[in-house]
Amino acid sequence: MDERVFIKDGIRLDGRRFDELRPIKMEVGVLKRADGSCYMEMGDNKVIAAVYGPREVHPRHLQEVNRAIIRYRYNMASFSVEERRRPGPDRRSYELSKVSREALEPVILTSYFPKSVIDIFVEVLQADAGTRTAGINAASVALADAGIPMRSLVSSCAAGKVDGQIVLDPMKDEDNFGQADMPIAITPTGEITLLQMDGILTRDEFRQAMELAKKGCQEIYKIQRRVLIERYSQFEDLQDEGS
Ligand code: CDP
Repeated sequence: MDERVFIKDGIRLDGRRFDELRPIKMEVGVLKRADGSCYMEMGDNKVIAAVYGPREVHPRHLQEVNRAIIRYRYNMASFSVEERRRPGPDRRSYELSKVSREALEPVILTSYFPKSVIDIFVEVLQADAGTRTAGINAASVALADAGIPMRSLVSSCAAGKVDGQIVLDPMKDEDNFGQADMPIAITPTGEITLLQMDGILTRDEFRQAMELAKKGCQEIYKIQRRVLIERYSQFEDLQDEGS
């Protein structure tokens, strides 16, 4: 039995209260060759998302006549975790690529671009639990940066259970030793596009976790929106100066 205590007097090991996200940093348009890109830090997670397209589909047989297909590749750098990770795809990265694609697909207006593909690459440079959620947040902003028409952004974070308490945005130790981890992704209008759960929660705890994760996503949405506005108002300023 693990004797470690993760919450003392309402304060978690990294100084957060139960309902606080880790510090977030986001930067838009960080890659010159991608059509859209975003770098994101969520606590000690560091991820970069690159979007290419819409562009021609290769191999051709994957083409859909009436819409664009979306491809999402989640990849963890071998140096991103404590114990060196063998490079290349594994079962976990296939799963995370699939659920992350499904988290974003509902908001992308794919019918505007028949027979084409939108490629999303997420590279995890440093991992500390919650990398799929950081990847989805960054990818959503990178899609907007690429000018892909979308119904809305998607925001993502997890809630978990540690020391019997429901907490927002578990970090690595809380995820490893906690009793549950529940990542979600959601649109600003409340459509849930990702819901996964590791561990066990009672109905009541599930409701609490959902409320907390939704609140976290609302905070993330504000940051996503702000960084995009900041990035594009720069160009407006430049245009004004030029005219
Ligand atoms: O990262 P996320 O929480 O979305 O996915 P996870 O499969 O629940 O992984 C939780 C954490 O375990 C990751 O963020 C990494 O910090 C760590 N991990 C690791 O150390 N080595 C791996 N091969 C995979 C994950």
